[in-house]
Amino acid sequence: MDTQHVPYERAFIFSAAIRIFHWLRALAILVLVVTGFYIAWPFLVAPSNSDVLVQGWIRFAHQVFGFLLCAITLARAYLFFFSKSDIERRSFQDVTNINSWITQLKSYMWMGHLDKKGVYGPLQFVTYFAISVIAALICITGLVLYANVYHEGLGGMLWNSAAWITAQMGGLAQVRLWHHYFTWVFIIFVVIHVYMAVWTGIRFKHNSVDSIVSGYDYHPKKH
Ligand code: HEM
Repeated sequence: MDTQHVPYERAFIFSAAIRIFHWLRALAILVLVVTGFYIAWPFLVAPSNSDVLVQGWIRFAHQVFGFLLCAITLARAYLFFFSKSDIERRSFQDVTNINSWITQLKSYMWMGHLDKKGVYGPLQFVTYFAISVIAALICITGLVLYANVYHEGLGGMLWNSAAWITAQMGGLAQVRLWHHYFTWVFIIFVVIHVYMAVWTGIRFKHNSVDSIVSGYDYHPKKH
């Protein structure tokens, strides 16, 4: 399409905090998936005469980025509820409106346009909500695994709750297994998320991916 003759307008949609947390979270998830899989199946073997503690360093990186993810998960939940701009919260109105669901699903099949109250469509909002719940669960199971290894400091502080959660989940092996299953939810989410981010930008002629870098969305002017 000849975009030169189509009047575009610009809207500021994502604050600096939201953009920084988005990319920090992306980095943390990438590092956690790679280091987590290494912990589960140590595929790099240090030479037998080496004193480099590969597993130890990988576990260290996993914990650093694990705590980073815990912090971002909390900060991001706070921002959702209390940020100055209500552009994310407004999207909830579409989740509770059946017509908005129909409009979104139809627009995905090239029928009509997506008309949103906030920044996300209803399906997108529900997906992000679900992945936030999984993020909370992977953080909780991660902290339980942590407390079972480190009994002092934070691990000690968390011990009582960790022991209770471990018992509820049917033992430490189950905690580890669920932590592992949740990893796959993230992998599947990231593949779909990146695909949809690019696809919706093309489908709805706006700069979907760039907006989480610059904060600005560009889209054809509404008449
Ligand atoms: C997207 C986030 C995360 C992913 C993808 C992830 C992935 C994994 C995976 C695949 C394992 C190996 C499990 C197994 O042995 O089968 C693991 C282990 C572990 N994770 Fe995570 N994790 C994440 C977040 C966290 C967080 C937030 C913490 C808490 C600080 C954490 C702490 C741990 C610990 C302590 C282990 C070691 C378990 C052991 O010694 O067997 N993880 N993680």
